[in-house]
Amino acid sequence: MIYCLPHRFIKIARGRKGEYIIKQTENIFVIGTDTGVGKTVLSLLLMQFFYAKGCTPFYLKPLQTGCTNPYDTDSDAGFIYKYVKHLKKKDPADSVIYCFKNPKAPYFAAHNEKKKIDLNVIEKVINEKSLLYSPLVIEAAGGLLVPINEDLMIIDMIKPADARPIIATRAGLGTINHTLLTIEALSARKIEPAGVVFIDSGEKYTSKDMINENIEAVERFSGIKVSGVISKIQNFAKPCQDCYQVIENL
Ligand SMILES: Nc1ncnc2c1ncn2[C@@H]1O[C@H](COP(=O)(O)OP(=O)(O)OP(=O)(O)O)[C@@H](O)[C@H]1O
Ligand SMILES: [Mg+2]
Repeated sequence: MIYCLPHRFIKIARGRKGEYIIKQTENIFVIGTDTGVGKTVLSLLLMQFFYAKGCTPFYLKPLQTGCTNPYDTDSDAGFIYKYVKHLKKKDPADSVIYCFKNPKAPYFAAHNEKKKIDLNVIEKVINEKSLLYSPLVIEAAGGLLVPINEDLMIIDMIKPADARPIIATRAGLGTINHTLLTIEALSARKIEPAGVVFIDSGEKYTSKDMINENIEAVERFSGIKVSGVISKIQNFAKPCQDCYQVIENL
């Protein structure tokens, strides 16, 4: 269960002997098994959820590609600011650190503009925002092994952000392999995910049976519990309560 005390986001969990443990959690890094899996939609639900709990969350998209500026309707920050009522009159550009025109891996998109992504710059913004907001909901770009410069990949941003990753993954065919590979990549770097969320956007039909089998396989082979399935959302301004229950389960 997630509670939020003024200016800090804490989690009350049950220990092995059933005792209550209060954990101060870090920022959240919304990562995905791929591009287009639903990271922004999950970030939106997290933002709405934390505001409803009385927290002061902040959405951050450190690397945005495929947009000419953060006001672009294609920008993830633009989407979040449109559908989070507390942010309607605020400036989505505040949430974007680097913005590149070409829709490709950040390293190459930056390279096309003769720019270089500096992880120190991202870390500095995260530290500044962490003083004012809690939690930060930081959205990755693409999947974990996408390069951000000559030396680093998206996965290398997680530890400097002092963030626990939540994995957004498709609910349908192919997700077992992608989800388990993502968890293995985190595990190789000694990063423990805070949870896995399946997203069934409705773009392709997936039977309930298949979704249940996918959940069973991910849980069995990774030992990590799947928090639930976000099904097709009709109105992003008011997603159904079931969606928030998935987040409550994290
Ligand atoms: N539960 C859902 N209900 C309805 N539409 C959804 C749902 N999940 C995702 N979508 C749609 O699927 C598309 C991809 O989702 P989203 O933008 O969240 O992916 P992403 O992982 O953030 O992609 P990127 O790597 O580009 O940041 C979007 O058009 C989004 O509106
Ligand atoms: Mg996105």
